[in-house]
Amino acid sequence: ISLAAYNTFRFAYRAEYFAVADSIASLKALLAWAKEFKQPVTMIGGGSNLLIAADVSGLVIINRLTGINVREQGGNLVGLTVAAGENWHQLVAFTVTQGWFGIENLALIPGTVGAAPVQNIGAYGVEIKDVLVRVQVINALSGDVYWVNAQDCGLAYRDSYFKGKWKDTLFITAVELSLKKQAALLLTYGGLSERVKGEPSLKAVFDTVCEVRREKLPDPSELANAGSFFKNPIISHAQHAQLKARFPSLVSFPFEKGIKLAAGWLIDQAGWKGKQYQGVGVYEKQALVLVNYSTQSADALLELEAKIKHSVATLYGVELEREPVQLPSPVQADVPNMET
Ligand code: EPU
Repeated sequence: ISLAAYNTFRFAYRAEYFAVADSIASLKALLAWAKEFKQPVTMIGGGSNLLIAADVSGLVIINRLTGINVREQGGNLVGLTVAAGENWHQLVAFTVTQGWFGIENLALIPGTVGAAPVQNIGAYGVEIKDVLVRVQVINALSGDVYWVNAQDCGLAYRDSYFKGKWKDTLFITAVELSLKKQAALLLTYGGLSERVKGEPSLKAVFDTVCEVRREKLPDPSELANAGSFFKNPIISHAQHAQLKARFPSLVSFPFEKGIKLAAGWLIDQAGWKGKQYQGVGVYEKQALVLVNYSTQSADALLELEAKIKHSVATLYGVELEREPVQLPSPVQADVPNMET
């Protein structure tokens, strides 16, 4: 079966075996089948952070687990258990309607709830890490379903163990979030405070984030893309000082022990914004996003990626790192030794 409808880059590679799982029971049966016939397993949610670059051998499972469970936890807290196949943006919209704070800045991020911790989705100063309590997983080897605390998932800037050492072995089946009935709004990133109309409210922040994203980011249902194609690189204060001296308009933000550069600025200033190359290109309104206008294969995109990386490395001495997950896995993942 072609995976074109299951990745937002719309690359038309094939899955050797393909199934849709809408219950834990069907997921268990599929994993048992894959184990028996020694087939590798790949799980896909919304396919919006994927770069499929070749046919995928083994079994591809589309995660369609649904269900939202709400627990009032007394006082200010609300607990939500959400199945992995739920749509992320619909969840955000629901929480905003309920008047619950915590994920309003993460509006309009494409993809599923189960994919959100994989890359620790983030926008406008908030990451899912900030509200994530624990993650329910299924172990592909044992078929066991259990919870892992968020602190143990290696969540970092656009990263987690689900993208690294747990890839191909632990698949997310549900997440537990902790939201608040009353909380301060975060408007300090991405010019939100200047853009919110009137008195800032939960709904106003949600609406503003949607508006800003619609202006800058292509809707994957209209123009194939996988959001930011590169991470914003983190460099040392010393390297930053040198670069800033050479490029006074360099855009950067303090981040943990170093400085985070706006990769979009680097790519834009290197002259790539709006450039097209063999059916793919650099989005005209946000240079961090690569788009697919018309191709079925990832070849041109991989070539464009290499050209951009080379040019940014040559100009600024900065190594760009890719953000979406590649399929099939370019390297064999470690098999984790999880307790069950
Ligand atoms: N910039 C340019 N030219 C461009 C793009 C950006 O000069 O073509 C400069 C601008 O000065 C802008 C700054 O870079 O102020 C930052 O740009 P923007 O606010 O659009 O954010 P970003 O750093 O490019 C990150 C996330 C986005 C997230 C936004 C908002 C990453 C890899 N990307 O982008 O996440 O929506 O911040 O918080 O961290 C995604 O991960 O797929 C994604 C879209």
